[in-house]
Amino acid sequence: MALVFALRQLAHVRLPEYSRRTAAASWGAWLTGQRSFKTGTQPLRSNSKVTVHFVNRDGEKITVKGSPGDSLLDVVINEDLDFDGFGACEGTLACSTCHLIFDEEVYQKLGPITDEEMDMLDLAYGLTDTSRLGCQICLTKALEGMVARVPESVADIRQSKDGSL
Ligand code: FES
Repeated sequence: MALVFALRQLAHVRLPEYSRRTAAASWGAWLTGQRSFKTGTQPLRSNSKVTVHFVNRDGEKITVKGSPGDSLLDVVINEDLDFDGFGACEGTLACSTCHLIFDEEVYQKLGPITDEEMDMLDLAYGLTDTSRLGCQICLTKALEGMVARVPESVADIRQSKDGSL
């Protein structure tokens, strides 16, 4: 019983004292212009974007940003990048036109490749040891500043010899 009484007394004294100190510190900071907006929330969404450098077929470097979770095909579409024929099947793993080539260091961070992607990648023009399909690569913060090269040409396996789909 004595312990409960002591705790109540302590809480009664400490809580108002804490509130007064916090309020005084906040107003003092406000009046002196030393405001701090530290919170436990996430940074603004724009701060969490991932920078991607695409190198186009003609060697032009294009720097854009995408959100974590977006595929590289999403980034190309969202940023309205004009890579001729890129992403013809809209990410359904039916064309290989979203073929991209990466530096070895980036390639190692891209995550596992599925059998379906591997099968489609085998049909891509200019296949390299560090090739992947852009529609299967999702952005993460670990990929910040990555370089993705668009191959010189594109092969859409859906096209017949006369050029029709
Ligand atoms: S967009 Fe067709 S396979 Fe990626």
